[in-house]
Amino acid sequence: MTPTNASWLSANAELWDARVPLHVDSDWYGLRDFRAGRLTLDEIELAGVGDPAGRSLLHLQCHFGLGTLSWARLGAEATGVDFSAAAVERARALATELGLPARFEQAEVSGLDLGRTFDICFTSWGVLMWLPDLDAWARAIARHLAPGGVFFLAEGHPHLFIWDDELGKDGYRPRNPYFRHSTPVVDEEAGTYVDPSQRLGLPQYRWNHPLAEVVSALAGAGLRVTGMAEHPVLPWQPLPWMTAHERPGWWRVPGDPFPLSFTVTATKDRPAHPRTEELT
Ligand SMILES: C[S@@+](CC[C@H](N)C(=O)[O-])C[C@H]1O[C@@H](n2cnc3c(N)ncnc32)[C@H](O)[C@@H]1O
Repeated sequence: MTPTNASWLSANAELWDARVPLHVDSDWYGLRDFRAGRLTLDEIELAGVGDPAGRSLLHLQCHFGLGTLSWARLGAEATGVDFSAAAVERARALATELGLPARFEQAEVSGLDLGRTFDICFTSWGVLMWLPDLDAWARAIARHLAPGGVFFLAEGHPHLFIWDDELGKDGYRPRNPYFRHSTPVVDEEAGTYVDPSQRLGLPQYRWNHPLAEVVSALAGAGLRVTGMAEHPVLPWQPLPWMTAHERPGWWRVPGDPFPLSFTVTATKDRPAHPRTEELT
């Protein structure tokens, strides 16, 4: 049978289900500190979204819920979505345990239709390369954003996908293509970033998305991009030649020669003229 986006996505969901118990128990995710009241959101995410108190917030690809629950701690009316049944189950259990008013839905993000809109739509760190079709993803965001609402994305820079793990004697060595390819890049034996020694025996399928594709998808879905920035830091270390930043939790390349991450803000404009029923 020829593989399709649906079969690749379902294999990825299986991988993420297998990762969840390892992640819940990992130092990486720091559940013990979270239970004690810590937020898991970093300064780029907090500055990008602003004060969410009293606002409805949709968190796409929320994993097992720590980010969504952090937004709830800050006063948002938060809903998290993820296609991993295991992740959503853990997220719901944590919300109940900690008495935090967040909801979680299990769904594939590009086809999402919750039948309502939100003031804020948020997604971050390690999300886009799991999606085969950014146009469908952007349409899902547009469907769920209220007029005047704000979308915020923080993500690893797509050029990171290119590089070999090892620095060659002449410098950085390319391995994977930057530009879009119709079939995903396959890793037959994926592990997990929280513990590279763990083998899960499952494949992963990923699609790299150049910056232009991200912005064009959002614009094509009718959203207005209001800002974009590139940053010389990243909150994880995908390549061994990156070094710990003096600010705890961040990584960089010595000398900051190129960006490691990027952020995008967009909005859904209010209609220029009120609808007739709003005037009567
Ligand atoms: C690296 S996590 C990102 C969340 C957050 N930055 C974190 O580290 O917890 C990626 C999440 O995306 C989810 N995911 C991957 N592809 C998805 C899809 N097509 N639809 C919905 N969720 C998806 C996975 O289940 C996983 O929980």
